[in-house]
Amino acid sequence: MKNILILGAAGQIGSELVPYLRKIYNPSSVVAAYRSTPLTDEIMQGGPCEKMDAMEAEKMYAVVKKYNIDTIINLVAVLSAKGEANPPLAWKINMDSMLNTLEIMKEVKGAVFTPSSIGAFGPTTPMDNTPQDTLMRPTTVYGISKVAAELLGDYYHIKFGVDTRGLRYPGIISNVTLPGGGTTDYAVEIYYEAVKNHRYTCNLGAGTFLDMMYMPDALRALVELMEADPSKLKHRNCFNVSAMSFDPEMIAAAIRVHMPDFKMEYQVDPVKQAIANSWPNSMDHSAAQEEWGWKPEYDLKSMTADMLNILSKRLLG
Ligand code: SER
Repeated sequence: MKNILILGAAGQIGSELVPYLRKIYNPSSVVAAYRSTPLTDEIMQGGPCEKMDAMEAEKMYAVVKKYNIDTIINLVAVLSAKGEANPPLAWKINMDSMLNTLEIMKEVKGAVFTPSSIGAFGPTTPMDNTPQDTLMRPTTVYGISKVAAELLGDYYHIKFGVDTRGLRYPGIISNVTLPGGGTTDYAVEIYYEAVKNHRYTCNLGAGTFLDMMYMPDALRALVELMEADPSKLKHRNCFNVSAMSFDPEMIAAAIRVHMPDFKMEYQVDPVKQAIANSWPNSMDHSAAQEEWGWKPEYDLKSMTADMLNILSKRLLG
């Protein structure tokens, strides 16, 4: 990666990925693109930024030309629960941004990173140790768009030589920008509520196991995959990656190690619960280990200590 365009730079991943990449690469070669949500001052002042809509191909092409972009990281997405509230809009946003990205990078013979998700799997997928290559019949519009994007990514690689790569991210836990409209959001919100109120009302039920990952691992995984030797990649779109699998009881117990009076209640959201029930409990990520050396650093214990420490300093002063 040399000249990188990040679409969706104001989102949960983008807002941390931009500064992360600007530390590794030349900051003036990392372009942050956003549509309506403003970028942080750190991002605005740290390198080039472009206000644009990833659904407008001409504008995107002009930005790619302006900065001589060789890699697009397309983080534009309507997440799982929000997608169920307006399926046509979710499909349009998720797919138009992907197709525009692929078409433009076909022209300039560049590379594309697109995150897929545990949401690409469905209720007929094996739930435990979910294989890299398995049955994928998702039952959310988000998941359907992710499977389609995975297949399109492979298609543009095979047919047109675009260097497409991607990760099936689990729920990502972070402390800078909140996710919005995802099924795994509870695992972020719980830390904010623990710090502020020592209690949390969980919208997924006890015993709902899902794969998760702390943001530093998610960012590192992206760079490691994009910098991996292409001759080693048997898969491209997309790799299972995980760092931990837990249910709400386990994350609450990890918080109680630091905050013994932490209380959790349940008020299950039926839409989110149905989505979570259709997703894997834990994924097998051995293909990522074998093909480009994936290894997570954070587990539930070390992530919880870091989240509580950072949020306590920020929220409680
Ligand atoms: N975090 C996403 C969601 O819950 C899954 O990729 O929708």
